[in-house]
Amino acid sequence: MNRQTWRGLTLALMLGGSAGALAPAACAQPAATAPAAKPWLDPKLDADTRADLAVKAMIQDEKLTVIFGYFGADMGDKYKRIPEALPGSAGYVKGIPRLGIPEQFQTDAGVGVATQGGEPNKRERTALPSGMATTATWNPDLAFTGGAMIGSEARDSGFNVMLAGGVNLVREPRNGRNFEYGGEDPLLAGLMVGAQIRGIQSNAIVSTIKHYALNNQENGRFVLNARIGEAEARTSDLLAFQFAIEDSDPHSVMCAYNRINGDYACENDFLLNKVLKQDWGYKNYVMSDWGAVHSSAKAVNAGLDQESAGQAFDKQTFFRGPLKDALAKGEVSQARLDDMVRRILRGLFASGVVEKPVKIAAIDYAAHGKITRADAEEGIVLLKNDKGLLPLVSKARKIAIIGGHADVGVLSGGGSSQVYPIGGRAVTGEGPAAWPGPMIYFPSSPLKALKARLPGADIQYADGKDLAAAAKLAAASDVVLVFANQWNGESFDSPLTLEHDQDALIDAVAGANARTVVVLQTGGPILMPWLSKVGGVVEAWYPGSEGGEAIARVLTGEVDASGRLPVTFPASLAQLPRPVLDGDPKTPDALFEVDYTIEGAAVGYKWFDKKGHQPLFAFGHGLSYTTFAYGNLKATTANGVVTVSFDVKNTGARAGKAVPQVYVSPKAGGWEAPQRLAGFKKLDLAPGATTSVRLTVDPRLLAVWDAQAHGWSVAAGDYTVTLGASSRDPVAKADVAVAAQALPVGLAKR
Ligand code: BGC
Repeated sequence: MNRQTWRGLTLALMLGGSAGALAPAACAQPAATAPAAKPWLDPKLDADTRADLAVKAMIQDEKLTVIFGYFGADMGDKYKRIPEALPGSAGYVKGIPRLGIPEQFQTDAGVGVATQGGEPNKRERTALPSGMATTATWNPDLAFTGGAMIGSEARDSGFNVMLAGGVNLVREPRNGRNFEYGGEDPLLAGLMVGAQIRGIQSNAIVSTIKHYALNNQENGRFVLNARIGEAEARTSDLLAFQFAIEDSDPHSVMCAYNRINGDYACENDFLLNKVLKQDWGYKNYVMSDWGAVHSSAKAVNAGLDQESAGQAFDKQTFFRGPLKDALAKGEVSQARLDDMVRRILRGLFASGVVEKPVKIAAIDYAAHGKITRADAEEGIVLLKNDKGLLPLVSKARKIAIIGGHADVGVLSGGGSSQVYPIGGRAVTGEGPAAWPGPMIYFPSSPLKALKARLPGADIQYADGKDLAAAAKLAAASDVVLVFANQWNGESFDSPLTLEHDQDALIDAVAGANARTVVVLQTGGPILMPWLSKVGGVVEAWYPGSEGGEAIARVLTGEVDASGRLPVTFPASLAQLPRPVLDGDPKTPDALFEVDYTIEGAAVGYKWFDKKGHQPLFAFGHGLSYTTFAYGNLKATTANGVVTVSFDVKNTGARAGKAVPQVYVSPKAGGWEAPQRLAGFKKLDLAPGATTSVRLTVDPRLLAVWDAQAHGWSVAAGDYTVTLGASSRDPVAKADVAVAAQALPVGLAKR
């Protein structure tokens, strides 16, 4: 099925529409002459001044040019990409050469430079592990470094806008795009995705935080109406955006497909004008998702600044002819059009891309491979390790490796974020050939990487298709690694159950040999009916270009297992706020509601804590190959800020990485859930070493939304500060008295 059909859109009427629709707006009137001076190109002026000056110099058609984007890929006979766009790219916006305003070359996305499906010429680039995997490192420095790496590949591939920075919370563990995002907690997601955006933008290009907002399931994403209260939204999904935006100042925001409390995200006055632009003072521009525009005047007046890929995906090119009509009728003011243009130019000036134009250049793939490997190996989570099965040591003489194509490669997530691998696809012929496919395995073989590290071992591989043969091999081995995969992708949600008889395979293998470790490659949580039968479980997510190496390094203990879950693994669907997923994929155009008032702001572990559910694996959980001791927990307040300090000691015999987590709870209750994550730190500790940690708690994490004051309000009282190895593994507690405090609605300075 092609991408447009999946997006549930009738392909642009515009394609058969008036000839003028395909002509660039600037052609409609005589070109203005080049100005004698271009003060807006002076980098010594600030971005706001430069944008103001440039807008003043623009004629109307130039203004209408920069607010409209084209799709950058062919779609069979239905749409031919505009020739100026880079082939197979997400999008293109014309520049204004007369004024020195550059063209915008847009690429997806969060794991690297993607190529749009269907293109014969693939752009082969370095892929980071999935967003979920990077978040599982709990290490913002790695997120920054990874972002800087993919941003440099974007620049060196000729792109100056990267559509990256997905921060939708995991309200729905079945959401097919969870792999692109930063998990279920606003602080963790905000800081990790914010760090990635900072990294991308360190290349003097634009990064686009998305999908704003509450686009938390793929099923029915074009039509669903997410219902939620203001306080609940501001304390959960919007807070994740707020943290990420204040951490990174992304030069663009992408509004989502879905509706929120009745209005589409891209024509939602509350989200765009009130929260983003007024409350948070966001100065750059809002671009639509591809096919997310439904109107001209309404969208523009609600705060949308740029229509993306209008001809290819929207029912009309709303920001062209219809917008001109709306301007003529006075439904949209000239001042608002100028504001749209000013915001877009401000983003471009602020990014540095005007002074530093992008150009195609050589990429150091070897150096970038090390960056993605470091990210992947810190994101791999050791969920269970009974009987010390891991790390594998070379004295394990007979090792069976079964299933998951572990002989040739590692899995990646599908859809617009798909990066094509250097070296070609390791597996073909599985999964859909077209959108949201193809299903792609990167050619980084765990089997080869393990063999290289365990020269003394006899390692045998079975593909797992024949259960009896797999069980036989398992029975004859000292230890067994079963690789089990679940492919997730854009445009569809996934059950939490492994497909293709993989549960039966694991059962059969574990039945033959209890010394079995399951290595998972999934987008997010899955159910594990076989959990009690296996000795170990490792969650490797989609581990990116060097995933096989990263998996082998963790399994052999070359590096510690140091990932921690950024998402709760439920024990059953019945534990979820919505045991049955809303919407019916068979009727993609039928409007329906998703009721987020059920959990409100109690997303993920907060819901599990509130309900007293025992998860399969808790948020924050992850084992190490060493052991840690925690001491000296203290919590104090000064000037309304809570500071938490504690010591962490590596009490084991080997180096390892701890992730101490700080949770806060009001003794009087009154929050959406008993506790919130308020801080964390990734620590690298030599055996026997102790480190002291000091963290300050963002006061908004002690607050509730106060609608009357239109700000945050911290209630006076005693709060419990819990130091934990996970959300369900407290290791020390301290009390702290906090004074009442009112906090403004705007972005905090970091
Ligand atoms: C996705 C966006 C993506 C865009 C451009 C949409 O389908 O939702 O995340 O950036 O396409 O490819």
